[in-house]
Amino acid sequence: MKHSIALVTGATSGLGHAAARLLAGEGWREIIVTGRSLAGAQQAAAQLAAETKRQVFTPLELDLNDPANVQSAVAALVKRGQPIDFLLLNAGLVPFKQRVLTAAGVEASQAPLIGHHQLTVGLLNANLLSPDARIVIAGAEPARGGVPMFKYTDLPEFAAKYHHGNRTAAVEALIRNGPNVKYVPNNTYADAKLIIAWWTAALARRLPSGMAVYAVSPGGATATKVVRSASPLLKYLFIPIVNLIPGMNQTPETAARRYLQASEFETDVSGQFFASAKGKFSGPLEVQRQPHLHDRANQEAAWQAVVRVSGVDLS
Ligand SMILES: NC(=O)c1ccc[n+]([C@@H]2O[C@H](COP(=O)([O-])OP(=O)(O)OC[C@H]3O[C@@H](n4cnc5c(N)ncnc54)[C@H](OP(=O)(O)O)[C@@H]3O)[C@@H](O)[C@H]2O)c1
Repeated sequence: MKHSIALVTGATSGLGHAAARLLAGEGWREIIVTGRSLAGAQQAAAQLAAETKRQVFTPLELDLNDPANVQSAVAALVKRGQPIDFLLLNAGLVPFKQRVLTAAGVEASQAPLIGHHQLTVGLLNANLLSPDARIVIAGAEPARGGVPMFKYTDLPEFAAKYHHGNRTAAVEALIRNGPNVKYVPNNTYADAKLIIAWWTAALARRLPSGMAVYAVSPGGATATKVVRSASPLLKYLFIPIVNLIPGMNQTPETAARRYLQASEFETDVSGQFFASAKGKFSGPLEVQRQPHLHDRANQEAAWQAVVRVSGVDLS
């Protein structure tokens, strides 16, 4: 992959900001940095330029909750007409204490995937990804299971119970947090990141042969703003306790470096979910082999549900 043009979503804070800084350090010619508002993206670009002493940051407005706004961002990129080599779909959040739905009726922590899908498909349909482009999307350890206080939904069981076995309808219900979905913020986060892992696998099957996509957990990096809206239990009990255990937390730079590491992976591992080893939130990236992640029916259901909710598909 050429180190030419990268696009980083959610670069106004945390890991997206750190990743953009690292990319500049690695000599990328241009790094498009997105923020929910143009002013936010401009501020991030100016701050990054000051931090790195490099004038390589281009601000772009991108509100992943708003399909019209994502469409405008795609149109702006089409107008530039320069293919992107590295698409880093980093934006995301731990859900709010109370359920929040976007105007499009999508649960807030699920919404970034819908916007990221619209962006990715928009770029693919416009032929605006380089032939050997790499796409990395932010996952998280709860999608693999075994994280206390975070439990993902058993999709086949949920689909059988409420959707006559229709897994696409079941994923759509999780994305919209209803019907028949109880709002438990941590579990909603686990589901959001699991659906991302499935979507990644399904996208990999649809990409042209030279391109690749990976879901990557950056691991624990609690110095970011990721849990700003989370419950006090998570913020003031779970995280401080986890932080006391050596090797469970990292600096935002170390976490963001995982994205860059994955961007150098080959096409043979396209579609995989990379995260910390079992029981850890840091350390080397490992391919996750849990059977629920590799269930092809779940992966295809996730793709179809995201297509249905976003109204956007590959041409
Ligand atoms: N930090 C961790 O421990 C950890 C662990 C595993 C996975 N992750 C994942 O890593 C990613 C980055 O998190 P972070 O720790 O860097 O958190 P952060 O400091 O809160 O940064 C998140 C970024 O995403 C943006 N964003 C969120 N929702 C958006 C939306 N709907 N539209 C546009 N932009 C949106 C935020 O913009 P605003 O400021 O405008 O909201 C912000 O720029 C997330 O996907 C998170 O789930 C983090």
